[in-house]
Amino acid sequence: MLIDTHAHLFDERFAKDLPAVLARAAAAGVERVVCLGIDLESSRASVAIANAHPLVVAAVGIQPNHAAEAKPGDWDEIVELAQREPRVVAIGETGLDRYWDRAPFALQEDYFARHIELSRRLNKPFAIHCRNAEADVVKALREHSAKGPLRAVMHSFSGDLATARECLDMGLYMSFAGMVTYPTAQTLRDVAKEVPLDRLLVETDCPYLAPQPVRGKRNEPAYVAHTTALLAQVKGVSVAEIEEHTTRNAKALFVL
Ligand code: NI
Repeated sequence: MLIDTHAHLFDERFAKDLPAVLARAAAAGVERVVCLGIDLESSRASVAIANAHPLVVAAVGIQPNHAAEAKPGDWDEIVELAQREPRVVAIGETGLDRYWDRAPFALQEDYFARHIELSRRLNKPFAIHCRNAEADVVKALREHSAKGPLRAVMHSFSGDLATARECLDMGLYMSFAGMVTYPTAQTLRDVAKEVPLDRLLVETDCPYLAPQPVRGKRNEPAYVAHTTALLAQVKGVSVAEIEEHTTRNAKALFVL
């Protein structure tokens, strides 16, 4: 069985056929999908989808590229959802992004800190988005890890080996998405090879960046099987072994 640890099922590209998408996921061996919000509206939608579909659980948060759009009161409602809703298993997605430059960096850092503190207070893990901001993310995590262990995942990891080692050092899980399957991503595969099986997670980050061989299509949770198969090759183990470890890891992190 498989767990897609990062999906955005509220995306309008799923509006017409979500039940069919989830049926295909189940048929492909996916036993759970974590649907993560990127702002208040999509966090509410993620909770609604989780409440309607037993296959899905939710995470709530304000993604760094959406931090500038957040209205006063949005964060309080995120906190309220995280506290109140039993199917909210995680906080996020959160993190830092220097690629898009859609929100002032200091504001991103402020929101990142809030998510980490909420994670600690509610004892729910958090999911980290990091784009062109590896050093900043590691620095922030180091500061917070001084206060106690972090329960978190580096989602769709795309950093280098040194960053991966820093994150593993702090006890984080490392999740790989479709990007790791792309022909040009040998450097990322070399990083994935070094991540111990007991820290490895898989995800789609759907609807974005479908893995080979379905690249270019709308991504969906069933396709996490392709990324899993690739990771088995990279690690030189059986697909069953990757499935077993990543599913066990996801259950441990998200308490599923
Ligand atoms: Ni995402």
